[in-house]
Amino acid sequence: MSRRTQIYEGKAKILYEGPEPGTLVQYFKDDATAFNAQKKATLDGKGVLNNRISEFVMMRLEEIGIPTHFIKRLNMREQLIKKVEIIPLEVICRNVAAGTMSKRLGIEEGEKLPRSIVEFCLKRDDLGDPLIAEEHIYAFGWATESELDEIIAMTLRINDYLMGMFGGVGINLIDFKIEFGRLQTEDGHKVILADEISPDSCRLWDRETNKKLDKDRFRRDLGDVTEAYTEVATRLGILKESQNSSAPNLSVVSNDE
Ligand code: TYD
Repeated sequence: MSRRTQIYEGKAKILYEGPEPGTLVQYFKDDATAFNAQKKATLDGKGVLNNRISEFVMMRLEEIGIPTHFIKRLNMREQLIKKVEIIPLEVICRNVAAGTMSKRLGIEEGEKLPRSIVEFCLKRDDLGDPLIAEEHIYAFGWATESELDEIIAMTLRINDYLMGMFGGVGINLIDFKIEFGRLQTEDGHKVILADEISPDSCRLWDRETNKKLDKDRFRRDLGDVTEAYTEVATRLGILKESQNSSAPNLSVVSNDE
């Protein structure tokens, strides 16, 4: 493998310089972290699953007109993406109370929210990604009002689409976190979806049993983390049915170049 320039290493992914200007290679690691990286583990196969699931989701979103950074999957752990300037916000969308919202507002986990709610956290690991208000975003210049309008509109469309997509395979989308970036264009820049969408960044509960099929299995020591991610990939049709076993075989349905 040729040596590449590493641009950035995050908790679950590494970014390398891409083959052409304006591109990057996003590598999905098996590392899992929670509680601001106080809890760490390596989960065999997680990176492969998240690469596949995020590819699938980004491609579906492109089909409905959401601009994303995804260009193509390169191999089992890597995808080619457009280079963007990341907007320093974690945009969270919630349909059902869980996690920090339940704790903060005393709403029982699993309670359906009266409407979908979009929240913003500042992307600052050293501060534990604090919840912020729109006013902070404008006052400190993290995004403009028009950028945030676009971000909120895209987030709600993504939520509608993903609720339907997961709903179709018997999964309730409880909440998710997404990130956006600024893509340089000839006449300025445009805001596009970046980062990843995977069971690391969503809460996904089985519709019948409420079984958690997401990173809460790791956060809460519920076990069978990659098995749950494999279940999500299988239901979405990314992995073959027969491979949904306790020892996930991570080969794929088609076009693995
Ligand atoms: P939240 O309940 O705010 O936090 P926690 O996961 O610590 O309980 O998370 C809401 C959703 O957003 C959940 O699906 C996890 C995801 N999320 C991330 O993936 N990364 C983050 O940094 C944050 C704050 C949330």
